[in-house]
Amino acid sequence: MTVKERILALLDGNRGEYISGEEIAGKLSVTRSAVWKNIKSLQTEGYSINAVTNKGYSLSSNTDILSVSAISNYLDEQCRNLQIEVLKSTESTNEAVKKLAVNGDAEGKVILSEEQTAGRGRKSRTFYSPHGTGIYMSILLRPKISATDSFLLTTSAAVAVALAIESVSNKDTKIKWVNDVFMDDKKVCGILTEASLSLESGWLDYAVLGIGINVSLPSGGFPDDLSDIAASVFSDSKNNGDVRNRLAAEILNHFMTFYERLTDRLFLPEYKKRMLFLGKTVTILKDNKKSEATAIDIDNDCRLKVRYSNGEEEYLSSGEVSIKM
Ligand code: BTN
Repeated sequence: MTVKERILALLDGNRGEYISGEEIAGKLSVTRSAVWKNIKSLQTEGYSINAVTNKGYSLSSNTDILSVSAISNYLDEQCRNLQIEVLKSTESTNEAVKKLAVNGDAEGKVILSEEQTAGRGRKSRTFYSPHGTGIYMSILLRPKISATDSFLLTTSAAVAVALAIESVSNKDTKIKWVNDVFMDDKKVCGILTEASLSLESGWLDYAVLGIGINVSLPSGGFPDDLSDIAASVFSDSKNNGDVRNRLAAEILNHFMTFYERLTDRLFLPEYKKRMLFLGKTVTILKDNKKSEATAIDIDNDCRLKVRYSNGEEEYLSSGEVSIKM
């Protein structure tokens, strides 16, 4: 860690409290003038740090800038092996983590970025990732599961996101099959898992779990093509406190709990409880053919059970169909 990062970590660990320049200098074995210079630089980056003579420096408890130390403050025991990195900007956190995976890095690397310049969505779409208002996070995993079980990663992550949003915002969430998280009928989170299979073992060699959440409203709102379908967890762009660090940590806390016993499907009841379509008529697009059916259940493999008007029933897997209300 650089001196600046270490100063930030110290202030982050004592948000709202003053630490003297002398104490910081002593703890980090640097000069007071180096402390002062780095504090100035952090302030220029947007950190709200108060400097008061005879008291020292204090990071405002409302600071909504992603940092490793702030996220770590909220993490539980099951996340002890995660190695988190926060970037200011990157093309795509999935791409960054994929490079680590190919490089042979161990599982547990987590990369977040304040913005993505080429955020990726499913079906070759882009994921709108403006600066400072969202969470763009990817996790490197090496689960001992087969390709057919890889849906467990995405569906359990959707539940982890839903639970985290609910605890941070006190609002309800829904999950649109298979893994989009919705609030008030609009999408607030998308998940993209990219995986590579080891032909030797039959298990995944690695999986990159990418999570993108619109946390507050981007300044100027969403672009026209998204404004009818996308929303943010907080419907305004004012400072909502230290929500992004908390939210990122809560997602990791819930996800790692599910991940420890992934094939036990501990997340499944919470997944089913939040399903948007159950009991409703949906339009199914399969093999370029449209049909209507009633969505009636989710099975153990997160397949959607539907019933057609002629009484026939079918289990749909996520890859082969797209459904709409
Ligand atoms: C979708 O809704 O189609 C999936 C969106 C996934 C977006 C996340 S943001 C973090 C990670 N990096 C990416 O480039 N994509 C995922």
